[in-house]
Amino acid sequence: MNKTKQLRLNHSAPWLGLCLLAMLCFKPGLLNAAEVSPNAGATNSTETSTEAMHLGVASCANSVCHGRAAAVEHGNVLQNEYRTWAKYDSHSRAYAILKNADSKRIAANMGIKDASTAAECLACHADTTPANLQGPKFHISDGIGCEVCHGGAENWIDSHYGANTSSAADNAIARHQANLKNGLSPTEDPAFAAKLCQSCHLGNTNQLATHEMMAAGHPRLRFELDTWLALMPPHHSDDADYHRRGKSSLATTRWLEGRMQAAQDSLTVLEQHSMPQGLFPELAVFDCHSCHRPMDTSVKRPLADRQLLPAGAIRINDNALRTIATLVSLRNETLGQELTLAIRQLNQSTVLSKQALQASSRKLMTLVEKARQSIDDSALNDSEQQAITIALLKQGASGEVRDYADAEQLFLGLQVLSFDTKNPKSGAKRYDEIFTVLSDENNYTPRRFKAAVQKTLKAATEN
Ligand code: HEC
Ligand code: HEC
Ligand code: HEC
Ligand code: HEC
Repeated sequence: MNKTKQLRLNHSAPWLGLCLLAMLCFKPGLLNAAEVSPNAGATNSTETSTEAMHLGVASCANSVCHGRAAAVEHGNVLQNEYRTWAKYDSHSRAYAILKNADSKRIAANMGIKDASTAAECLACHADTTPANLQGPKFHISDGIGCEVCHGGAENWIDSHYGANTSSAADNAIARHQANLKNGLSPTEDPAFAAKLCQSCHLGNTNQLATHEMMAAGHPRLRFELDTWLALMPPHHSDDADYHRRGKSSLATTRWLEGRMQAAQDSLTVLEQHSMPQGLFPELAVFDCHSCHRPMDTSVKRPLADRQLLPAGAIRINDNALRTIATLVSLRNETLGQELTLAIRQLNQSTVLSKQALQASSRKLMTLVEKARQSIDDSALNDSEQQAITIALLKQGASGEVRDYADAEQLFLGLQVLSFDTKNPKSGAKRYDEIFTVLSDENNYTPRRFKAAVQKTLKAATEN
């Protein structure tokens, strides 16, 4: 499988290939992106689309621009980005899949006539820039094209031409600054990328993959910035000139910014979408496996659990918030404690009242903002990275990680941290045992996860 091969080039972690396979289970087979239909009433858009005209993928795909068959060796960019996107990147098929059998089944289950014209599906599966901002080469059938991520090219297309000479680095930097001024999106900035990707991969104010969609057959959404950037597959080269141009970032920074943004996005989604329609709130904001798991009538609930929420209560998907609390505790213990307390209050608010939920959500917004500033102040040093790794392992070993999504994020965090550490013993392999427990979402048990993490923690602290 081509995608798996590409991954191996980027990260040497053996689990990524496995994970990709697991992620691909839902894949219905090869798709044909050639079906074309006019833009049928896409309404809203991701927060990233701007007022500039979207010229269309064909405007970028010229063979002397980004449409080369192979990457160029000397130059700032590869110039075969179109090929990577069209051939390997599923974003190019995001619209086409709205016409496939899975989408037809989802649509039928929801009573939607045609998923490929339904605004609620197009929101995340196409470029929803409004008709008056679509250039002559714009086609809805291009799915998630270059400009969804890089910004409408109307005002920067001229200033970015010819940027691929081996001219001095500062020239390239100045040129990039000019492009940014003209509306090119700063996709290299992990904070920007996190917001961009998660607008579709987690949802935001405007767009949400609802529980109705899930129950109709839509795959569960999950996301971690560094891992998903590697899975995409990347069409840039993180090489010497990329570094010289100041565009590189550490895997850990991407993980942190991704989690920060996810913490904020999950609060926004919670506030915007959790209000009851009928008796129940939107279930997609809760942890899927707090409802969907085998029933165990012999369950023994730990005291900490009972103190948090009554048995059978639905738990909020709060894993990004928990990561932030763990992280910030290392730099600012008081803020860490405040966050932990506020997360507790947020969970408890769901059985109290809408007002309580709003109050604790607002309080958390402020605390996460503070945490963000404290983390953004300076990059994590080696000993902090080591300390976070141990803190995450201890959290997993304590048995307090109940939900699959929480365990999954804990694992992804550990994995990413191992990419950046200089300690050769901290290679990705040490997490294989944890990965095995996570490989089957439907048979996950908190007990097996706890045992696997305990073993890993022991190995990590013995070394
Ligand atoms: C909040 C954004 C969002 C909305 C709204 C949304 N999707 Fe998706 N959809 C995604 C993302 C992201 C993926 C990829 C999930 C993954 O693999 O992690 C996806 C995946 C899919 C897949 C599986 C794709 C594959 O390659 O197998 C289908 C089918 C699908 N969506 C159909 C729909 C339909 C039909 C609707 C409207 C009822 C819809 N989606 C609404 C974001 C969304
Ligand atoms: C899903 C989002 C997404 C889509 C779609 C996308 N890109 Fe990118 N692109 C990125 C990210 C993220 C990076 C890496 C960060 C960076 O360097 O800006 C990147 C990097 C690049 C770079 C390298 C920049 C550099 O300085 O080295 C070029 C060139 C590029 N993209 C062109 C394209 C073209 C052309 C298309 C359409 C055929 C496209 N991209 C589609 C997200 C996207
Ligand atoms: C406009 C919405 C949107 C944005 C923005 C977006 N994605 Fe996606 N992404 C999707 C959809 C929809 C799919 C599923 C497409 C399909 O399967 O055909 C997808 C698929 C993927 C996949 C493949 C998952 C799989 O199971 O095969 C990865 C990896 C991915 N996106 C990463 C990213 C990253 C990283 C970014 C930000 C740089 C990003 N995406 C931005 C909507 C989006
Ligand atoms: C509050 C409990 C609750 C939560 C949280 C929840 N669901 Fe559901 N889910 C249900 C109920 C109830 C049904 C309907 C079951 C039926 O019709 O028999 C359902 C149905 C489904 C179905 C249809 C298949 C089935 O088992 O009936 C899927 C798929 C699904 N949910 C996925 C999800 C995903 C993904 C999430 C997390 C984003 C989630 N659910 C969160 C309660 C929940």
